[in-house]
Amino acid sequence: MRFASGLSALLWVTFLGLGLSVLAADKACTLHHGGKYYDLNPLKASKDYEFETSGGHPFYLNVCRRVTTDPWSPDLPDGVDIAGLVRKDHHDFAIGLVNTTLEMRDTGLMLHLSNGSPCPAEDNLYGSSAIRFLCDTSVYGSGKPVVISQWPEDDEQACQYTLEWRTHFACPTGESGLMSGIVVSSVITLMILFMIFIVASTLYNRFVLRKRGFDQLTKLSKDHLLELMNFCMDLCSSLVDNIRSTSYTWAGSGPRNMNTASHHWSSRDEERAMMAADPLEDYTAHDRELQDTHVWRGDAAERQDSASMQL
Ligand SMILES: *[C@@H]1O[C@H](CO)[C@@H](O)[C@H](O)[C@H]1NC(C)=O
Repeated sequence: MRFASGLSALLWVTFLGLGLSVLAADKACTLHHGGKYYDLNPLKASKDYEFETSGGHPFYLNVCRRVTTDPWSPDLPDGVDIAGLVRKDHHDFAIGLVNTTLEMRDTGLMLHLSNGSPCPAEDNLYGSSAIRFLCDTSVYGSGKPVVISQWPEDDEQACQYTLEWRTHFACPTGESGLMSGIVVSSVITLMILFMIFIVASTLYNRFVLRKRGFDQLTKLSKDHLLELMNFCMDLCSSLVDNIRSTSYTWAGSGPRNMNTASHHWSSRDEERAMMAADPLEDYTAHDRELQDTHVWRGDAAERQDSASMQL
């Protein structure tokens, strides 16, 4: 029983670690807003999007990553991540640096870029832009940005740009990252468990039962497999119970203590809780939850333990 609860705790740490890293990796260029989830990462392109300014100069833009076009004297330090370029007559003008923080405004999903090339007509002013992404399911593929306005209006002097981009990638999507992360970490966990089982029972055969040669290898008879399956199902249901109780804990630890009375779990609450939660606090909370669960799971685990000892 000690073994089972220790194992379960270990599993939980692994599981949480994987889950959190999946979430953290998904953070850039995504946004939770109004219970919806937006992800502009699919717009990252290996070749820049090309279009034109109102004055007919080439415009190169990428999303959530630096442009692939080589900048031609943009008057910026080497190695900065330029988000977009206007190829003016005598040099390239950087319209801003990469920013992976999305923002929802009344006007739509916005990306703000700043700290581009120095403005030609103004001292201490640097290229900046606002890109408005509009959800449009009728647009085929990624769609293309268009320049809505530029200031000053003259193409050579221009230094602030407003772009609009109609694309279906600006529509709310499901949060596939989290679900697939959970599935992957469960499969890995089960494989690790299976390996631990094989190694442990081989060691048991060798050192406790003093078997030698092929005898010490675990024989997977039908009974063994059934016991193994029982054990896995028990662990799975304990994991599910823990997920339920943990999500409840996380929602409760949100800054405004919303939703403390309900188990409802929207992605927005999740984000809020994730941002506010102190990881250490959460682990202690899990331990408590784990123990609580094991009070009434204890019997089942004990049966499993004695069953596996008879192998
Ligand atoms: C990045 O975008 C956010 C949200 O629009 C904005 O608040 C922030 O100032 C931007 N950062 C830079 C360096 O442009």
